[in-house]
Amino acid sequence: MKLIDRYGRKINYLRLSVTDRCNMRCQYCMPAHGVDKITHDDVLSYEDLYRISKAAVAIGIEKIRVTGGEPLVRKGIVPFLERLSSISGLKQLVLTTNGLMLDEMALDLKNAGVKHLNVSLDSLNAKTFAEITRGANLFKVLAGLAAAERVGLPIKINVVTMRGVNDHEIEQFAELTRDKSLAVRFIEYMPSLKKPGWQKLSVSGNEVLERLGQKYSLEAVDRQELAGPACEYRIPGAKGTIGVITPMTGHFCSSCNRIRVTSTGQARSCLFSDMGMNLKSVLASEDPLALQGALRHVVELKPDMHGVSADRDNHDAFAMSNIGG
Ligand code: 5AD
Ligand code: SF4
Repeated sequence: MKLIDRYGRKINYLRLSVTDRCNMRCQYCMPAHGVDKITHDDVLSYEDLYRISKAAVAIGIEKIRVTGGEPLVRKGIVPFLERLSSISGLKQLVLTTNGLMLDEMALDLKNAGVKHLNVSLDSLNAKTFAEITRGANLFKVLAGLAAAERVGLPIKINVVTMRGVNDHEIEQFAELTRDKSLAVRFIEYMPSLKKPGWQKLSVSGNEVLERLGQKYSLEAVDRQELAGPACEYRIPGAKGTIGVITPMTGHFCSSCNRIRVTSTGQARSCLFSDMGMNLKSVLASEDPLALQGALRHVVELKPDMHGVSADRDNHDAFAMSNIGG
């Protein structure tokens, strides 16, 4: 079954946030005081998250990314992932994590059927990393990456590029792809929290490519089926790839293939718009067709594009940790 929105885009990708909690406090993701804790009652049970996932696959979703907050801090995540990966019709179950708990959990994730991991890692310098994350330990994340590599879980590293913070590390990140079959992707900073002066931080994907182009003659890599929004390149002869994700400057929205559901059951049609609906009342009805209908409705609400750019941020501020990126 194909799920097509009003603008002809094929929607086959669900981002499912299982918690807004996190064991990091990244500057760009959470306000300094943290986010208001959602009370336990508001968070959907695994059973409900499973029912949503099943309904989504029934109407045409082929790939599910489990996100947070940090998904690995929610108790019972491994059996939940195992259940998700056995939904028939689901082609790919993947997970986004900050990597802090990967050292202990990589093998379990692999055995639960997770196909690859996106690990958020914005600096290879322990001090800078601790600053960006307000205190997290880089070496723990690096140990996590090593564990994932050992068990054979493919890894994509997400680097949110910020001028004057980590943009001098672009080359160092690129160098990681020479000997390891990693995908490193530079993401344009998004003003989700609307901190004044955020424009100064932003580095466009084009600038990243230009800067890398001065050192390497990058080769373009073909887009894969079910791929996310990255444009990918390779240093000639390198094992891994380098990509840019350009939510701010790129023609991103025209190939958008996703919907989102948060841990409180809020289905969102677009990261930058709260056009969507809460699925809680639909879940109460116990009717699987009602859930399918609600998710179809959310697809119909998808706008053609978001209106956020360097000189315009007319969206409401939000903590990315609530939505999962
Ligand atoms: N801008 C860009 N990327 C962000 N992420 C979280 N907040 C932002 C932001 N403000 C990224 C995280 C993670 C992914 C899910 O989204 O680094 O890799
Ligand atoms: Fe946690 Fe990821 Fe947000 Fe950092 S960006 S605080 S790791 S959810």
